[in-house]
Amino acid sequence: MSSSIKVVVTGAAGQIAYSLIPRLINGRTFGDKKVDLALVEIPQVVDKLKGLVMELEDSYFPHMGKVTYTDDFSDAAKDADWFLLVGSIPRGIIYKGKKIEERSDLLSINGGIFVEQGKAIGQYGKDNAKILVVGNPANTNAFIGKNAADKESQLWMAMTMLDSNRAKSIISKKTNVNISEVKNMIIWGNHSPTMYPDSENVLINGELGSSVINDINWVESEFIPTVQQRGKAVIEARGASSATSAAKAAIDTVMACENPTDASDAFSAAIASDGSYGVPEGIICGYPLVTLSDGSIEIKRDLALSDFAKSKFQTSIDELLAEKDAVKHLMK
Ligand code: NAD
Ligand code: LMR
Repeated sequence: MSSSIKVVVTGAAGQIAYSLIPRLINGRTFGDKKVDLALVEIPQVVDKLKGLVMELEDSYFPHMGKVTYTDDFSDAAKDADWFLLVGSIPRGIIYKGKKIEERSDLLSINGGIFVEQGKAIGQYGKDNAKILVVGNPANTNAFIGKNAADKESQLWMAMTMLDSNRAKSIISKKTNVNISEVKNMIIWGNHSPTMYPDSENVLINGELGSSVINDINWVESEFIPTVQQRGKAVIEARGASSATSAAKAAIDTVMACENPTDASDAFSAAIASDGSYGVPEGIICGYPLVTLSDGSIEIKRDLALSDFAKSKFQTSIDELLAEKDAVKHLMK
């Protein structure tokens, strides 16, 4: 085995984690590295992780390194390379007598978790740690965590890969191509019902979506709302929020960061804006990203946005700014 890597997973006894954690040690996600896992849960359920560790041991994973579990996030964070922050409350459940319906409901409940976790990541995580926030509202949770960590060399991301994968599936059906031929599928803005899935810059068999999909009606009244509302549709159909697809998307994000991106492609994740595409600096915004051969991750800056795209994107930027305002009491 070439080397080892330490990965922290929060919400480790939850639904997403059950599908996610085995894939982290399958010898594909991190290639030929040995993977040490630090699994984190709240005190009420942390002991259940004993059972998960037993199952991992029973599964024959040659790339599995040391596996620990704890309710002490700071302890887990020590020298970690990757943080997959899944732990938080999903929509669709009853919390303190109220049905949690929208991401905004989650803001006040989940936001606080990310102050303490952010501080610990800044203090104990590796200087070049990568952090993927999955727990909702993912962009603003990442914004809170990044602010608390206060370490520019660490890369904070919020997950929009699931939205991108959903959009690829819809476009592959619409255009009758294999999903592997749908590339550069970018989600701009917030992981929320305001997100803008970009059907113009997507590449379908190497051709721009703007020339392949000549159906603005379909884009506006079917494609965009279906992607925006897919999380809710799954909750309604399944009685629980997406889990296996979310886990797959987290793995896809890790792999996209760990391997150079093909020249014509880009992947979707939200990172802190540096002002690219006119987005106010600092908010965690869904962008087209590329991983370079030296391992650094950058915003792809040369995509053209039509007036239609700009106006959709702006709605999501405005929502992110409103969320930023709503959590200003959690900022340093
Ligand atoms: P779940 O309820 O099955 O599991 C969440 C787990 O997090 C629970 O076991 C809970 O005990 C744990 N947890 C809560 N607070 C914690 C803390 N402070 N530290 C450690 N663990 C903590 O939920 P799930 O289905 O696994 O979903 C998790 C989150 O992911 C939800 O917020 C959901 O909305 C979100 N999600 C995001 C996306 C995305 O695309 N970004 C997709 C699907 C789900
Ligand atoms: C999803 O997109 O499936 C998740 O963010 C869950 C949700 O609340 O929509």
